[in-house]
Amino acid sequence: MTKVNYIEASGKVYSVEAEAGISAMEAAVKNAVPGIDGDCGGAAACATCHVYVDDEWIGKTGPAQDGLEKSMLEFAEDVRETSRLACQISLTPALDGLVLKLPEKQH
Ligand code: FES
Repeated sequence: MTKVNYIEASGKVYSVEAEAGISAMEAAVKNAVPGIDGDCGGAAACATCHVYVDDEWIGKTGPAQDGLEKSMLEFAEDVRETSRLACQISLTPALDGLVLKLPEKQH
């Protein structure tokens, strides 16, 4: 299992245990973490799973990927260097303890 901590803009933390291999969007939706809708089911086609990877973790997740992910992020609000689509972050054991911050709102 991989632990993921989702932090709302208000500071409220939602910690979930996810099976390895699913995405950070799927783990949030399965555990009813508010603020991650995942409307497109993980196809990088909706940007309702926009998150900010904590500075300590961006080296492990890597930045947004060229192509679909970066293009879709153009539709998200308040995009930053550490912005990712949670559906494009696959939860490997190396990401145990991952911290993802939620934007104030999805588009
Ligand atoms: Fe639609 Fe991530 S779930 S872009």
